[in-house]
Amino acid sequence: ERASSSLYRFPLLPVRGIPLMNHIANSWDTIWAFRPDPSDILIATYPKAGTTWTQEIVDLLLHNGDADACKRAPTPARSPFLEIVSPPPIPSGIDLMKNMDPPRIIKTHLPFQLVPPAFWENKCKTIYVARNAKDNMVSYYHFDCMNKTQPEPGPWEGYISKFMRGELAWGSWYDHVKGYWKEREKRNILYLFYEDMKENPRREVERIMKYLDLSLSDEVISRIVELTSFEIMKENPMANYSCIPTHVFDNSVSPFMRKGQVGDWRNHFTPEQSKMFAEDYDKKMKDVNIPFRTLI
Ligand code: A3P
Repeated sequence: ERASSSLYRFPLLPVRGIPLMNHIANSWDTIWAFRPDPSDILIATYPKAGTTWTQEIVDLLLHNGDADACKRAPTPARSPFLEIVSPPPIPSGIDLMKNMDPPRIIKTHLPFQLVPPAFWENKCKTIYVARNAKDNMVSYYHFDCMNKTQPEPGPWEGYISKFMRGELAWGSWYDHVKGYWKEREKRNILYLFYEDMKENPRREVERIMKYLDLSLSDEVISRIVELTSFEIMKENPMANYSCIPTHVFDNSVSPFMRKGQVGDWRNHFTPEQSKMFAEDYDKKMKDVNIPFRTLI
C-alpha cells in the first residue's frame, strides 16, 4: 500500500543508458546544468559504498572536529544530494544549495560521465569512495528492502543478476568504479576504499584532510576518528538517517546503519554464487587493476 500519493517505489528511467529514479531523469536538464562553486567538495560513490561515513568525516574536518556543529541538521540537510529532486523525503539537493554558502559538501551517486561538467571546469575537489562489489551489493540489497522509494529488490539470487547486468538504480557498479578510476589523475580525484577506511580510519581521515589542504591537531583528528566510528554514528540521530520517517526507511526491515563491516558477503553468497560472480567479475574488470579487497 502506498504511504502517500506521491511516495512509492519509483520506477527507473534511463539517462544516457544509466537507470535513474524517474524524478531524476525527468529533471535531468536542470541537474546537468548545475554550476557548483569552485570551493564546493564533491563526494561521489556508487550507492552503499560509504557515502554517509565520508560526508560525516568531511563535515567534521571542515568544522575542526566540532561535534555540536555537525549536529546542526541531519546528513541530507547538511550535505546536499546533488541529483535528488522532490518528492520527499530527502530534500532536493539543488534547492537546498540555493540557501547554502559554499563550500558545500555535495553528495552524488552519478557515474563519472553524468557529473555536471561545471564540476570539472571549476576544478572542484572530488572524493570518490569505492567498496568491494560483493559487500557493496549486500548492503544495497538490504537498503532496497528497507527503502520504500527504491525498486523492489526481489529475491537475493535474482538481485545478483540485476547487479551484474547493471540494472539497479545508478547503473553498473563495474562501470562506476572504473569511470572514476580512469579519470582520477586527470581530475585530481581522491580515490578511497571503504576497506582501507575500516582497516585504518585515522590514516584515511588524514589523507582526506591533506587532500582538502587542512591541517588539524592530532587531538582533533583522534576525535574525528572516534565520532565517525560505526558505533557512534549509529547512535547519532543527525548521522544515522533516523530523520527519514519509518514508512519510507523501514528500520524494522533493516537499519540504515546496518553492520558496517568488510566481508559480510560471506553470509549471503553461496559457494556457487561466489564462483559464478567471480568468473563474470574477472571478465568485466580485466581492463583495469583497481586494488579491491573483499576481506581485511
Ligand atoms: P552496511 O549495509 O554494510 O552496514 P552509504 O552511506 O553509501 O549509503 O553506505 C551505507 C553503508 O555504509 C552501510 O553498510 C552502513 O552501515 C555503512 N556505514 C555507514 N557509516 C559507517 C561507519 N561510520 N563505519 C563503517 N561503515 C559505515
